Amino acid sequence: MAASTISHGVKTLGVVGAGQMGLGIAYVAALRAQIPSVLLCDASPAALEKGVSFFETLLKKDVSKGKIQQADADAARSRLITVGNLEDFATKGGKGAEAADMVIEAATENLAIKQKIFGTLASTLPLETILATNTSSISVSKIAASAVGAGVKAGSEEAWKSPARALGIHFFNPVPVMPLVELIPAIQTSPEVVARSRAFAQACGKEVTTSKDVPGFVSNRLLMPFINEAVMALEKGIASKEDIDKTLRLGMNHPMGPLTLADFIGLDTCLSIMETLYRETADSKYRPAVLLGRMVDAGWFGKKSGKVKPRRQAILTSKIA
Ligand code: 3HC
Repeated sequence: MAASTISHGVKTLGVVGAGQMGLGIAYVAALRAQIPSVLLCDASPAALEKGVSFFETLLKKDVSKGKIQQADADAARSRLITVGNLEDFATKGGKGAEAADMVIEAATENLAIKQKIFGTLASTLPLETILATNTSSISVSKIAASAVGAGVKAGSEEAWKSPARALGIHFFNPVPVMPLVELIPAIQTSPEVVARSRAFAQACGKEVTTSKDVPGFVSNRLLMPFINEAVMALEKGIASKEDIDKTLRLGMNHPMGPLTLADFIGLDTCLSIMETLYRETADSKYRPAVLLGRMVDAGWFGKKSGKVKPRRQAILTSKIA
């Protein structure tokens, strides 16, 4: 991997959301990039507790497999700080004065929520702090436009400058395992912010690609229609759920079949990405499968719904005959 010539300069990282993506990002930042302070933020104390417990489980597993030393695990654990409010990023959770140099938002895939978060971050953090979103498909330029602090006058220099520190840094699930990060500069993003973010992703041990800010970027523009087509094949009875997955696993060497992968990602996430692709391109090839919509209507989101038993039997593959 070619090392970046510019330093990321991140000493304090904020991560918004202690779900599977946020936790994974905090893990690689603390362990691989050795960021001195990684502030993991979630409004739900239960989510934070669950996140920290999984963080510790991952460290234990890596030690027991001889991938890291106990001292590395202890150091990574000591770098993780949990906080309950976005405002805590400005004061390192009360444990120091340094504000976060970079924040990665990994909250729910909902534009209004992300805009609110970016508005708050822009109001509380210095103009130099990089504000990144881990969105799967939403317009990064739209999210960046909300990175303007409260009270900043429209048309002022700050209102122009502030969105330039925003971009998409797209990790893949499971973050500790998947070797890629996709960078998505918004049309407002400055080249320096892109270069520093590339250096940060590389420090986390990731290969980096760059995509234009188009619906789904490169990754989900290709992956989601593939998954959606697999759901349509199931819906039309073209093959059994087992055979659809087996065809791709054994015929094309995919680690998971597309239906199992959909359950792993979350059917709600898959549907929301397809809806974004369909809405923003008005192209019928992106029409979400009706079955995908119905399963989300039923609250059957896949692995995250906790209905997957045993561990790798997914809900799409277990609930539809
Ligand atoms: N968190 C952290 N580590 C995990 C994990 C998790 N949730 N799940 C599995 N792992 C680790 C295991 O601990 C194991 O680590 P080890 O090598 O140190 O023992 C390693 O992954 C392999 O796990 P398993 O042996 O249990 O299982 P598999 O060999 O079947 O691998 C898999 C599991 C890595 C998930 C593999 O099936 C795979 O690569 N699946 C495809 C995943 C994929 O395509 N992800 C991208 C989704 S798209 C996305 O994220 C974009 C978004 O915008 C939608």
